[in-house]
Amino acid sequence: MVDFTLTDEQKDLREMAHNFAEKEMRKVAWEFDKDGTWPQEIIEKAWEVGLMNTHTPEEYGGPGLDYLSGCLIEEELGWGCSGIGTSLAANGLASAPVALGGSEEVKKEFLGMLTESPKLASFCLTEPDAGSDVSGMKTTATKKGDKWVINGSKCFITNGQYADWYTVYAKTDKEAGHRGISAFVVPRDDTIVIDKKEDKLGQRASNTATVTFNETEIPAANLLGEENKGFKLAMMTLDRTRPGVAAMAVGIARSAFEFACEYSKERQQFGVPIAMHQAVAFMIADMATKIEAGRLLTWQSGALLDNGLRNTLAASHAKRFAADSAMEVATDAVQVYGGYGFIKEYPVEKIMRDAKIMQLYEGTSQIQRLVIAKEVLMGRNVNEPIPEAIAKQDEAKAVEEVVPA
Ligand code: CAA
Repeated sequence: MVDFTLTDEQKDLREMAHNFAEKEMRKVAWEFDKDGTWPQEIIEKAWEVGLMNTHTPEEYGGPGLDYLSGCLIEEELGWGCSGIGTSLAANGLASAPVALGGSEEVKKEFLGMLTESPKLASFCLTEPDAGSDVSGMKTTATKKGDKWVINGSKCFITNGQYADWYTVYAKTDKEAGHRGISAFVVPRDDTIVIDKKEDKLGQRASNTATVTFNETEIPAANLLGEENKGFKLAMMTLDRTRPGVAAMAVGIARSAFEFACEYSKERQQFGVPIAMHQAVAFMIADMATKIEAGRLLTWQSGALLDNGLRNTLAASHAKRFAADSAMEVATDAVQVYGGYGFIKEYPVEKIMRDAKIMQLYEGTSQIQRLVIAKEVLMGRNVNEPIPEAIAKQDEAKAVEEVVPA
């Protein structure tokens, strides 16, 4: 049976996230956007009420929420302010590879660090010459005795300037393409230089930095999963985080849509509210359909994970559709506002700028199409159990039971 009836707990979570977004995020969102203000106080409050590290298992201090619940929260945070929302969500991206591939000690130390106090972590995959093409990365990790030594530079790193630790992908076999990448958890130290805070078009309250590792030494035990299996760990991570990103895009679209609806009922032209003109009413109708469809794809991509099923295809459908829809809906909201929509004094201008990144980060819309095309044309990655190398045995077992190899 297909049933997206939310439990009482999920409804409560959604309400709590909505109230937080309304009271704590919205009241400063447009102001923080102006100067790119770092939302430290909001991070602390969100951490306090349990809106961060939502998927961290209980044994490491988190609430261990299911992925559908995570989507409910992300939609509300995206509705409140996706720039601040991205700052709140980034710990989830950094933590997923640790939860999937870290040893018990590593999980206790690094996941525990985020749940014990409002600390931050960053996911370091992208490099100046390796964005969509992950395997083109140049950062290296070299084994020296019982240590790994990391060298290289990562760019566009969310929360990079404020993170206490980093999940870092590096080449451990330069000749082996994607099969020569490993993942590590790297605590911040003074060999790590944060040298660029990006001045961005949108989501300006989130921090985006360049993080450079200079002979950074970490214990051998900080390797996540198996050596040279980091690419798969990155892909598995993105399968788990793209539903949340899609949900945030739905929240952005919903916010633009609500403003457009309200304005279209107030603004009079040709003697009637512009909502009475079919040209505007049909735009509003299309916005509403895109939001509903985006949410359904998003919930499906989370619910598959919650049922122990691989969601690669669904996550790309959701991320692609919701991100493109957020951009379209926000652009149409500006259109509904007419010339006023282009002016900073009105709310939709910021939302349109914020929406753009949804089509870029955590895999561009083109990369999502690439994944979708591979999946549907070649059956790539379908029905494949999660690699044994990854130390999340329960999940692997669950997948094997549901999907025989
Ligand atoms: N789960 C597990 N394994 C997977 C997988 C998945 N979802 N997808 C692929 N793999 C495995 C394949 O089975 C294959 O395994 P083998 O080595 O055994 O053959 C291997 O990975 C390579 O797969 P592909 O041949 O499909 O890889 P590709 O190179 O053709 O395509 C890609 C990969 C889809 C383009 C990928 O590189 C990709 O997703 N790129 C986008 C990266 C991205 O999203 N970056 C965003 C960074 S995060 C961010 O934005 C941070 C922020 O702060 C907001």
